[in-house]
Amino acid sequence: MKNYVIHDLPEYFKEYKKSIKNPKKFWDKIADENFVWYQRWSKVVKYDMDNAKIEWFKNAKLNITKNCLDRHLNDRGDKTAIIFEPNNPTEEAQHISYRDLHQRVCKMANVLADLGVKKGDRVCIYLPMIPELAVSVLACAKMGAVHSVIFAGFSDSAVASRVNDCGAKVIICSDGSFRGNKSIDLKVIIDKAIEKTPLVEKVLVVKRTGCEVNWKEGRDFWLEDLYQKASPDFVTKIMDAEDPLFILYTSGSTGKPKGMLHTTAGYMVYTGYTFKNVFDYQENDIYWCTADIGWITGHSYIIYGPLLNGATTVIFEGIPTYPQPDRFWEVIEKHKITQFYTAPTAIRSLAKESIDWVEKHDLSSLRVIGSVGEPINDEAWHWYNDHVGKKKCPIVDTWWQTETGGIMISPLPFITPTKPTYATLPLPGIQPVLMDDKRNEITGNQVDGNLCIRFPWPGIARTIWGDHQRYKETYFTAFPGKYFTGDGALRDEVGYYRITGRVDDIIIVSGHNLGTAPIEDSINLHPAVAESAIVGFPHDVKGSALYGFVILKDTGESRDRENLKKEINNVIADTMGPIAKLDKIQFVSALPKTRSGKIMRRILRKIAEGDFSNFGDTSTLLNPEIVDEIRDGKV
Ligand code: WTA
Repeated sequence: MKNYVIHDLPEYFKEYKKSIKNPKKFWDKIADENFVWYQRWSKVVKYDMDNAKIEWFKNAKLNITKNCLDRHLNDRGDKTAIIFEPNNPTEEAQHISYRDLHQRVCKMANVLADLGVKKGDRVCIYLPMIPELAVSVLACAKMGAVHSVIFAGFSDSAVASRVNDCGAKVIICSDGSFRGNKSIDLKVIIDKAIEKTPLVEKVLVVKRTGCEVNWKEGRDFWLEDLYQKASPDFVTKIMDAEDPLFILYTSGSTGKPKGMLHTTAGYMVYTGYTFKNVFDYQENDIYWCTADIGWITGHSYIIYGPLLNGATTVIFEGIPTYPQPDRFWEVIEKHKITQFYTAPTAIRSLAKESIDWVEKHDLSSLRVIGSVGEPINDEAWHWYNDHVGKKKCPIVDTWWQTETGGIMISPLPFITPTKPTYATLPLPGIQPVLMDDKRNEITGNQVDGNLCIRFPWPGIARTIWGDHQRYKETYFTAFPGKYFTGDGALRDEVGYYRITGRVDDIIIVSGHNLGTAPIEDSINLHPAVAESAIVGFPHDVKGSALYGFVILKDTGESRDRENLKKEINNVIADTMGPIAKLDKIQFVSALPKTRSGKIMRRILRKIAEGDFSNFGDTSTLLNPEIVDEIRDGKV
């Protein structure tokens, strides 16, 4: 891919203007010049924002894996597609060539076909960061099945609700996973989940840790056994542009998680394009994104974006602090990483360690370093810039979402002057607008408001699986005619954007989006709990942490409070997963509520932050006296 590469700032502005004036022409050219198609599209884009109906490259025929794998076989067959860096550094890294990867994907597709998977079927994947995860994803895409990767840190209940929501009949998991000096028995979690998923017929198990597993004949299959017998030839399914590619669940501010549906052609064009430009990808680069493939960052920028460009991408199984806090820097030196893409929470936690851990490694291979998932604070930005990038690698602070499919606002390295904590400028084709609460567009610079996007882009999710109405209501009704991101942003004097954080009830903890409502529902399952409210408060490593205000039923009064706190966190870990555990729990006798019964979270947020200076207008509260009581009892 080379045609759309931007070289300097004037070229960016020129390209940007063109892309806004005529988005159809802009995307038509990119799609045409950089991808292989069985059949061209008849229309570049068709959209109706009021009904949230968006189609790109209508009537085109393609398969994304032809673009990720097959087309590279001639020129890049021997080139490394994936470097697998295992959890334990004494285990040898694997270099998987494009030819090998293609063959493994074809075999896996045959294994899935033998298990009865057909085009359009959903397959849930619950795997650690091992090559089989990428192979499974690509095998689904090759055969036209819809993959739904479930982060392998979710509890059995969280897995079951996702599997049931998408109606998968097949799950791919492993016996276990390695994480630092721990190992986790994943198959046990799947066994428990399956008790709650009546539709699941087959479980394909990858051997990783060698732990003991329970086995149900006829339902459970070792991948190894089927893989040995599988043919390396597979006839790639021809897909329509708008055929579903994958479902990925993200937290909603209310109720159950949202299964964001991404489709084939638009997602491909958008991730291929953004990967190339945002990371300034060059042919022999070794690119490493530390995200988990269980999140969108891993989908778009570990698997699809890099492979679409014929790149070498690293899959890292471990954690930043194992065996020691220099693992990231060691891996950068070992594989001569050129682009490194990580999250502010990782940067903040590693910045707390001695600087010697960084300095003892040669990081001179790095050219571009990136940040994603949450706002990067000034201190973390400078530490990253000074000690990792050595002030010579541009930091691409990339703002985007599960829903957007790919990066939306980001500096282009060596082109856009960076500014600490700013995601800077929109990529070509992306039209951000700031809106006030009265639905008016805020024009000019040095302003802030609700961040919306005016025109569809190819990577936008098309719907919430099984609930188009919710999709429309969540993203297209607050500001009619526009996509609402749920984030607040400011635009500075030169037009640079800085994301200020969520404006809804989603809290980002260590880069993971968590909705307050599902956590509250989970806490309320504890028999001693009557009601609860969760807010976020600043945390120097996690960005935000969770603070729970909990009202106990009468029966709770006589119980050991510290023990209750532990029990409440156990309920959360069981129903959602350990990432949603609360950092602080305060028992209260009531919550501040308006006359209409709404909890005034603004006040709870202030108390959790320890800011007692000004609670604002409390006159609409039904029970204003409770505010002082909660403040005085702050933990
Ligand atoms: C936040 C992750 C500030 C934002 C790709 C967004 C960011 C949510 C940034 C989406 C950034 C992501 N600066 N905030 N560079 N990147 N966010 O769906 O609030 O896991 O709405 O997608 O993360 O999180 P998600």
